[in-house]
Amino acid sequence: WVPPTVALLGGYLLGSIPFGLLLTRFAGAGDLRQVGSGNIGATNVLRTGRRGLAAATLLLDLIKGSVAVLLAEWLAPGLGVLAAAGAFVGHCYPIWLRFRGGKGVATLMGVVLALHWPAGLVYAAVWLALLALVRISSVAGIAAAVSAPVAAAFMNRFDLVLLLLALALIVLWKHGENIERLLAGTEPRIGSKHK
Ligand code: G3P
Repeated sequence: WVPPTVALLGGYLLGSIPFGLLLTRFAGAGDLRQVGSGNIGATNVLRTGRRGLAAATLLLDLIKGSVAVLLAEWLAPGLGVLAAAGAFVGHCYPIWLRFRGGKGVATLMGVVLALHWPAGLVYAAVWLALLALVRISSVAGIAAAVSAPVAAAFMNRFDLVLLLLALALIVLWKHGENIERLLAGTEPRIGSKHK
């Protein structure tokens, strides 16, 4: 028997591992928080010019979300949603970085894929399509996050809608500076320099 707080805290601890920051530091690429947007996510790792590290960050930030949910569901069926919330909040507000974490796009993808893979596929498709079309990471991430509760509702998973809506709102909140830059027309496209 696993108490709900353990699922929540375990998810939080897993989610709070800042892979982008750790990988760039270990690769000798400096402090990611001094680069580009200062964010610890894969998009900003890409701005260091290290494509492999960026791909690894994306994958690891995604996988930690999935692992948190799957592990919780395996040990205590029904507690996956708590681990999902914990992992996402851990990524966005890690205690190790004084609660200044990432923007949640990759971790949320991992979480949604593990909670309900069809909604996760919608998330991934929206994200990839907008990345290809618009080539602005924040636009793709925000749209994908918003698509998750909508997809869950269309798929009759009303038990997930509220959680996914709350997490999408946190993604929007975390992209405040990106939204300001988008409105000012200064948000950089993938591959172009951050102002
Ligand atoms: O997932 C983060 C992305 O949406 C934006 O990253 O570095 O451009 O603020 P960044």
